[in-house]
Amino acid sequence: MTSSSDTFNTPDLIRKKRDGGQHSHAELQALISGYTRGEVPDYQISAWLMAVYLKGMTAQETADLTLVMAGSGDQMDLGDLPRTVDKHSTGGVGDKTSLILTPMLAALGLTVAKMSGRGLAHTGGTIDKLESFPGWTSELSEERFIAQAHDIGLALVGQSKDLAPADGKLYALRDVTATVDCLPLIASSIMSKKLASGAHTVVLDVKVGAGAFMKTLDDGRALARAMVDIGTHASRLVRAVLTDMDTPLGHLAGNSLEVQEALATLRGEGPEDLTELCVALAVEALAAYGEDEAAAEARARATLHDGSALAKFRAFVEAQGGNPALVDDPNLLDVAPGRAEITAPSAGFVDRIDALSVGRAVLALGGGRERKGEAIDHGVGVELVRKPGEAVAAGDVVLRLYHRDGRGLEVAQRLLTEGLLIADSAPEAEKLILDRVF
Ligand code: URA
Repeated sequence: MTSSSDTFNTPDLIRKKRDGGQHSHAELQALISGYTRGEVPDYQISAWLMAVYLKGMTAQETADLTLVMAGSGDQMDLGDLPRTVDKHSTGGVGDKTSLILTPMLAALGLTVAKMSGRGLAHTGGTIDKLESFPGWTSELSEERFIAQAHDIGLALVGQSKDLAPADGKLYALRDVTATVDCLPLIASSIMSKKLASGAHTVVLDVKVGAGAFMKTLDDGRALARAMVDIGTHASRLVRAVLTDMDTPLGHLAGNSLEVQEALATLRGEGPEDLTELCVALAVEALAAYGEDEAAAEARARATLHDGSALAKFRAFVEAQGGNPALVDDPNLLDVAPGRAEITAPSAGFVDRIDALSVGRAVLALGGGRERKGEAIDHGVGVELVRKPGEAVAAGDVVLRLYHRDGRGLEVAQRLLTEGLLIADSAPEAEKLILDRVF
């Protein structure tokens, strides 16, 4: 099959991009909708993706591609929900931010009616974390989803395959054609799902560092700028925060353990890095709705101390079938009973605890999945007893593993040992929040 529509010939479109040309909206519409309908085959889109990878896309093309992908399937109508906001992180380890930020936003009078994903490979997913509450479900009818968002200000469902289906197909193809790490393709992939999800405002947490897609701050800034610009084209308000992802956020990685840390943070007793990030993202959401930043920061911080964000979280867990008693007593959450420790081989300073190694260790212990649909163990994980910058004596415990009957323990220990660096002198303190783009 050679034609993507009556008007456009697919080889001509591939040739145009190969030679550095710029696509019109109509051309992208023909190509992508032809592909989504199964009329343009994988091999032609593979060639086109590689041409995009090598020649890039202009801001206009990236925005057009995103709109075409967003329109390739169902689009959520959030109707008359007030002050809607969505949040997206480009993926991290120990990143339980959504569990804390979303009830904070609800407590601040914004509405979060959001789709979230499951974890894959070394990164975790919000739905998996929430399923640490037995009975909690991510499957709500559209009516119940909207009603709950009206009542509580917070409702969360799993990613629908009918939402931006072009992205699902393109992503699978990018994965096997070495075209994942391409800025316009990443930006359009993320933003197509956000636009189709319907929220007026989107706050983005763009991770930068060893454990992230974007390894340098400049690359992270460029991705953030591309996504903010797409939002502007689509008449949405998008603001991005660039954050360090060399080391995991907070002290805990693994589903139930992360929920416990999120609950501590919602009580105002969380680790500083995690608390700061949640407050910073809440400020962006409020600022997008015109609030003064200093006032927004004070209001956001207050939700973690006056019980209002925790109350929203409790109501949200209960509304989606979870037991609210576990919100009040996080020790009731299932945590695997096995313990093992990694100690400092010599005295010095913790220089590095590699995020990717921690993510892979959780995966090895059974807390993540290699393939979609695999069952996971919510109770296993890794605790960063010490964080980078802290002084240690030889033999001090730096990392603790939570395992079940030793499953995956040897591999996890090896990964963590490889990812741990103890240095003679204190490393330079790294900032968590590196920049903002709006
Ligand atoms: N996340 C996405 O949804 N798409 C990408 O291309 C990369 C990260």
